Amino acid sequence: MDRSPETPSSEASNPEASSPEAANSAEPLSLAQGAAEAADLRQSLEAHAAAYYDGQPSIPDSEFDMLVRRLRAIEEAYPELVDAESPTQVVGAPVGATFDPVVHAVPMMSLDNAMDHDELDAWNERIVRALTEAGLGAPVYVCELKFDGLAISIRYENGSMVQAATRGDGRVGEDVTANVATISVVPARLTTDSPPAVLEVRGEVYMPVSQFTAINTELVAAGKATYVNPRNTAAGSLRQKDAAVTAARGLAFWSYQMGETVGVEAVDSSMAMFDQLRSFGLSVNDQIRTCASFDDVHDFCRQWEVNRHTPDYEIDGVVIKLDSRSQRNLLGSTSRAPRWAIAFKFPPEERTTLLRDIMVSIGRTGRATPFAVLEPVFVGGSTVGMATLHNEDQVQVKDVRPGDTVIVRKAGDVIPEVVGPVLAQRPSGGSPWVFPSQCPRCSQPLVRRDGDANTYCVNRVCPARVEAGLAYFAGRSAMDIEGLGERTVAALVESGLVSDVGDLYRLSVDDILTLDGFGDISAANLIASIDASRDRELSDVLIGLGIDHLGPSASEALARRFRSLPAIVDAEVDAITAIDGVGPAIAASVVSYFSDETNRAVVDKLEAGGVRLDRVDIADVAQNLVGMTVVVTGTVEGFNRDEAMAAIKDRGGKSPGSVSKKTTALVVGEGAGASKLTKAEEFGVPQLDRDGFVYLLETGQLPPSVVVPEEA
Ligand code: IVH
Repeated sequence: MDRSPETPSSEASNPEASSPEAANSAEPLSLAQGAAEAADLRQSLEAHAAAYYDGQPSIPDSEFDMLVRRLRAIEEAYPELVDAESPTQVVGAPVGATFDPVVHAVPMMSLDNAMDHDELDAWNERIVRALTEAGLGAPVYVCELKFDGLAISIRYENGSMVQAATRGDGRVGEDVTANVATISVVPARLTTDSPPAVLEVRGEVYMPVSQFTAINTELVAAGKATYVNPRNTAAGSLRQKDAAVTAARGLAFWSYQMGETVGVEAVDSSMAMFDQLRSFGLSVNDQIRTCASFDDVHDFCRQWEVNRHTPDYEIDGVVIKLDSRSQRNLLGSTSRAPRWAIAFKFPPEERTTLLRDIMVSIGRTGRATPFAVLEPVFVGGSTVGMATLHNEDQVQVKDVRPGDTVIVRKAGDVIPEVVGPVLAQRPSGGSPWVFPSQCPRCSQPLVRRDGDANTYCVNRVCPARVEAGLAYFAGRSAMDIEGLGERTVAALVESGLVSDVGDLYRLSVDDILTLDGFGDISAANLIASIDASRDRELSDVLIGLGIDHLGPSASEALARRFRSLPAIVDAEVDAITAIDGVGPAIAASVVSYFSDETNRAVVDKLEAGGVRLDRVDIADVAQNLVGMTVVVTGTVEGFNRDEAMAAIKDRGGKSPGSVSKKTTALVVGEGAGASKLTKAEEFGVPQLDRDGFVYLLETGQLPPSVVVPEEA
């Protein structure tokens, strides 16, 4: 819980302050305006800090940061406005009442931030100047990851852990000894024969991302609201009155600094200090780099910004520190932060914004998906204006309502997510959002079946469904019809020219010319793309039909086995389940799809429209192993294991990885696995050598020399 004043800014009191530039400069303000804005900022910072310590954060840390930076900029422009109680002058939040206070023997400081590489350069220049003036030579830096957890100081006396405290306001923290003692990587005793009289180790308590995900997965399964992020969850877990709860939360700890020490050998370099911590049995992260050149510092920051989601713990930046203790001493500290260190902050992945509306989109299967329409916000490297809300239950659990200020999260490549509402900013008089009872497009009733989390529009001719189905058919993973995007699809459906995918192959250039925005060339191009798709492979056609459960690999398996769409239309469940990689659910879905007259009519239209329904780019081999299960172990001459298995599947057989009672034969090559051989003996499964295997492939029969036991 690092809500130190290096974090916020209140969009409510000063909307412009939400950009780093505005937060950093207070020039255009008069003294009176500055005083008024500073008062507003202090008030909102206090309110946000209070909400945070109540376990209900009202804004993300990144925005808290910006508010503090804005306040600091105003105070720098008008030093007469500085107030000893200002959040810019104290390190952390007020100490809560529920844990005993602990006065830190050495204050726990915070860090100044650099929001970009220019700010980092400016800091380096200040350091270089100061060291040069003092004749102390050039700086060497250590770069460490900035862990997104909560700062803790753990005190060992004569090797035994005697106390652990949160940072609090930097001077006085809270006693969380019992809770920290449950963290498995925090040793109860230092692992040394000659422990120092006193060692205060400082570091970050965090929740591993995998642990956070597991906890949230359980909450989702129980239909409960999920936790916002690993840091808040770690903070909440550490502040439990019952340490057994903390113990169950799987927290961890990285140490990065010493506080008070008595009897610890003084070392000058950071690496030597980290080695000392390690020798005491304390966990030290291994991503630490010593940089003699500042270019290397920039590189380290860039590298970790790109890879920030690689580790199993969250990081929100890089901490850069002067390596040498004597150089640090020369530079000293301000009241809240050392001058010899700085935090390079990554762009925030959480921001708040206005939830303008909640709408529902209808997909090709009719699934009705609620999504958030947001006041566009720059988060996680891109501008986000929409975010999925998944289904009715998710909206209910999160209880987000149009008009709410919501926390939006976008981490890396992950799709943007609405984490939850900021309750403190909820407009009064609202009520929970209600899932619509009718399809927003065709006005037919929406249906949610018992036990299903999803709601559907079951009207097969709903224009939204038809459009989504056509767009999917035309998409890259299916028929790849260039130029047939969502807008053209919608125009084709609206004009009545197309009502299913079969109609695409009846279109002429003249038809396309009736649509807005098309000229001779673009119309001819679209017709040419549709024409080119007539020659796509059978598996692409199958994918494009969008049959439930039928993915690309099962589509390929079906195509390989039946070799034409009409043959698949007529196939029975047993014949389909006999194919390797096609289970009963897929088989049932395929049969049910083609038993529907409307779908068969689409197939007829495709055929009449000249779509090749039999292109399978795999040699046309006899399907003589249908219904057989042939396991391969080791390599037989002329085939590697994959080729041997492919040869079986190409002929309609199955080739699983293990032997069972149902196995037709075991092909035994060089380096055969003992367990497969034993199983084959046990179940009386015939064993084939290379010649026997080739005979099987060619004839679809076991060689006459193989004696098949009665029961096999
Ligand atoms: S050194 C006096 N090293 O970031 C300097 N801090 O925003 C003390 N933090 O209060 C901190 N990772 O809670 C340091 N590798 C690291 C860190 C780290 C995370 C936290 C720490 C600090 C806050 C400042």
